[in-house]
Amino acid sequence: MNISRSFILVGAAFLIIGVSFGIFMGGSGDHTFAPLHAHINLLGFTLMTVFGVLYRVFPETGLSNLARLHFWLHLGGTTLLLVMLFLFFSERITPEAMFPLAPIAEVLVMAGILTYAYNILTNLK
Ligand code: HEM
Ligand code: HEM
Repeated sequence: MNISRSFILVGAAFLIIGVSFGIFMGGSGDHTFAPLHAHINLLGFTLMTVFGVLYRVFPETGLSNLARLHFWLHLGGTTLLLVMLFLFFSERITPEAMFPLAPIAEVLVMAGILTYAYNILTNLK
């Protein structure tokens, strides 16, 4: 599994979804989904693409098992968080119903970021 490629491909998929929400908001005039749109594009596309490019530019970090762990933590956490935000902003669930899955998703994203930080600290030449 090529981590750099995986991050960049998944990032492109998030960009398609994120920009679709942006176009929907622009067209409808309903900006309710703005925070969701922002985080699909930022957590999903921007961050994933930055990670993908970094793991390509510094291959010694991309080859580490830490990069693989980072990918799954970030993908799992981001997807779960964005699904919860979609359910919340479309009023399918109450704010109370965000617990415990949304906090768990945030912990997963943070665990991925800490894994990334530890990886570059130990493996970046
Ligand atoms: C065709 C592409 C896009 C369209 C039509 C679009 C449209 C929109 C709209 C209508 C809003 C709401 C503005 C408001 O309520 O004040 C918005 C907010 C935002 N968009 Fe986009 N957008 C696009 C692409 C992107 C991309 C590629 C990114 C990031 C990489 C991005 C990041 C943001 C951010 C950070 C906000 C602010 C959200 C907030 O303040 O809560 N957008 N966009
Ligand atoms: C687990 C990760 C994250 C969580 C839980 C989170 C949470 C939040 C929250 C609660 C808000 C305020 C939303 C509102 O006022 O309606 C926000 C806004 C925002 N976040 Fe995040 N965020 C995360 C990651 C990120 C990342 C990685 C970026 C950029 C790469 C980012 C960029 C932004 C921007 C641009 C805004 C809008 C600020 C504004 O409209 O004034 N966030 N975030």
